[in-house]
Amino acid sequence: MAGLASMKLLSDLVAENGGTIPDNYVRPPSDRPNLHEVETLRVSIPVIDLQGLKGSSRHEVVKAIGMACESDGFFQVKNHGIPESVIERMLHVSKEFFQLPERERMRCYSSDPMKETRLSTSFNVNTEKVRSWRDYLRLHCYPLEDFVHDWPSNPPSFRDDVGEYCKNARELALRLLEAISESLGLQGDSMSMALGSKHAQHMAINYYPPCPQPELTYGLPGHKDPNVITILLQDGVPGLQVLRNGKWVAVDAGRGELVINIGDQMQVLSNGRYKSILHRAIVNSTTERISIPTFYSPSPDAVIKPPESLVGASHPALYRSYSYAEYYAKFWSQGLNTESCLDMFKAM
Ligand code: OGA
Ligand code: NI
Repeated sequence: MAGLASMKLLSDLVAENGGTIPDNYVRPPSDRPNLHEVETLRVSIPVIDLQGLKGSSRHEVVKAIGMACESDGFFQVKNHGIPESVIERMLHVSKEFFQLPERERMRCYSSDPMKETRLSTSFNVNTEKVRSWRDYLRLHCYPLEDFVHDWPSNPPSFRDDVGEYCKNARELALRLLEAISESLGLQGDSMSMALGSKHAQHMAINYYPPCPQPELTYGLPGHKDPNVITILLQDGVPGLQVLRNGKWVAVDAGRGELVINIGDQMQVLSNGRYKSILHRAIVNSTTERISIPTFYSPSPDAVIKPPESLVGASHPALYRSYSYAEYYAKFWSQGLNTESCLDMFKAM
């Protein structure tokens, strides 16, 4: 295949280069993870028990979610309703996929960010100068029947295991959107309605191989997620860090735990009240890591603007309205090092 050399996945590179990373992965000294400066707190982001959403304590849980969205932009959930067996199969089949021979995996390879099902590397190899230490499989997941035929069929249980996880993750996303709507003083279905006629659900399966020089590079550099909310499943290996009060804080989440974060569209839909926060993934020299974000997103044709009750003379709309398709294209055309795509959509 022409150009295969430039399309190499990371697994190949590691084997070839031994103890050092190739030059095109080395960040300039001003843009390195400074791992010794990262804060490690035992509980770094709020943990919210979703059990309480069901009963008389719903109001308190909704309030806790609202506070977390406002102050941290990140929280962890427990009793989220996704069965442990579904999560375990999702993690297991993901690992199996990345253990397949490279030639098998390369059948899904594409560097076109608009392709719905694709295996890729770094973030966007067409636009970025420095690469990141990540391979990833990206999938569209809703409506499942529109996309599942395009997903890998190897490992043989891939479509079933991932499909099952996606259905569960969507239900959780909808429950969270309902609680978030209520926390903003809106009708429970407001956020869901604001996402337009056909909600979208995307997923990445991120694979971070061990990296001989983790101080020089990122798994993913600091970025904000372009979608509405993200549900992140991790395999227990640390790597996620969030920016809080100007400092990077390591998020300590165990295997199978779910981290929720606010994306750019929720920041716009809440007219700036809920924050899309910078976060990044760092790598380590000993252990591979898998993380699986579910990106819950508006319909591409949805016009994104906050509900009228959140806009007024004392709090004018902070962003101009736009279609999600426009935002999404802009996001992928930039390098991830651009601090925020949101800034380009500010109201005049
Ligand atoms: C992402 C992301 C964090 C991680 O894929 O957008 O932020 O821990 N991932 O892999
Ligand atoms: Ni992210």
